[in-house]
Amino acid sequence: MKKILALVIALALCLGCASAFAEKVGVSMPTQDLQRWVQDGENMQAELEKNGYEVKLTYAANVVATQIADLENMITDGCDVLVIASIDGGSLGTVLQSAADKGIKVIAYDRLIMKTPNVDYYATFDNYKVGQIQANFIIEKLDLENTDKVYRMEVFGGSPDDNNAYFFYNGAMDALKPYIDAGKLVIPSGEVEMEKVAILGWGTPDAQKRMDDLLAKQYSDGTFPDVVLSPNDSLAMGIANALEAAGCTAENWPIITGQDCDKANMKNILLGKQSMSVFKDTRTLAAQVVEMVNAILLGDEVPVNDEKTYDNEVKVVPSFLCEPVFADISNYKELLIDSGYYTVEEITPEEAPAA
Ligand code: GAL
Repeated sequence: MKKILALVIALALCLGCASAFAEKVGVSMPTQDLQRWVQDGENMQAELEKNGYEVKLTYAANVVATQIADLENMITDGCDVLVIASIDGGSLGTVLQSAADKGIKVIAYDRLIMKTPNVDYYATFDNYKVGQIQANFIIEKLDLENTDKVYRMEVFGGSPDDNNAYFFYNGAMDALKPYIDAGKLVIPSGEVEMEKVAILGWGTPDAQKRMDDLLAKQYSDGTFPDVVLSPNDSLAMGIANALEAAGCTAENWPIITGQDCDKANMKNILLGKQSMSVFKDTRTLAAQVVEMVNAILLGDEVPVNDEKTYDNEVKVVPSFLCEPVFADISNYKELLIDSGYYTVEEITPEEAPAA
């Protein structure tokens, strides 16, 4: 009996010591307002803890000052690596200098951190390809290569403080430009440049307000655009809400693109209120980040697959790009349900599809 007790005490002490010496990883997410960041944070924490790390996970409610304070606390708490999805990519220079002064390594997560040498790696999805996937869907759906019809399109862009937004925009508009130049796609509002179409903070209400204004100004005859290019699901939701409020029906519902396969948007895809999304499996990205954290802390070579594309205005940041995947009503079961990402109940619409 005494031997067993001694073993139990020894084991408890070892575990206690291990946790005292467990390396710490700070995970700073921008907000809990968008479903994907909650998933990113939870996946990352689970994966990192599985690998024996102590994790400090924070969400900054899309307030830059809060994110900076979160990071300062992580530095004070002795985190060895910081994994950061920035709210405003250009706002972290000072706090990341403090991290660098303590030898703390920084991985930019999904959104590139700008204007500082103190970001060591970037883990994301191929953001330009996200835009290409959205544009190729439009090109194929309207058969733009072969048709002589003219379609009306409106364009939305992501938050101008998010470097990703420019990659999504350029990936899509580079592919659509030939059809705009050929007059097969026209933009009645004339609003094309990012400065005109960007929605600060990726907010659904602001996207809805802009779509309301576009419909009132450009489609007051009760017609609707044929296509709305939306870079992600939170904007697509606002666009769909505006169309619904304006009385748009299934017969004249525009093609609407998206990204993230958020639950509410998958329901809209099943209801015919959104045409497609882009699946960025947060489990894949979290697993990739864990590999990078392991390599950094073990002093091994950190896995990257792109050392040319992501220039943060101070340096080209070594990156690992995961593959984004097209998703729509034809493949969502295999992609999201069979893979265990969602349950059927999580993305089954409450209402019945429109007749
Ligand atoms: C981007 C991200 C997208 C999109 C957006 C809103 O940086 O890559 O997936 O969801 O933020 O959070």
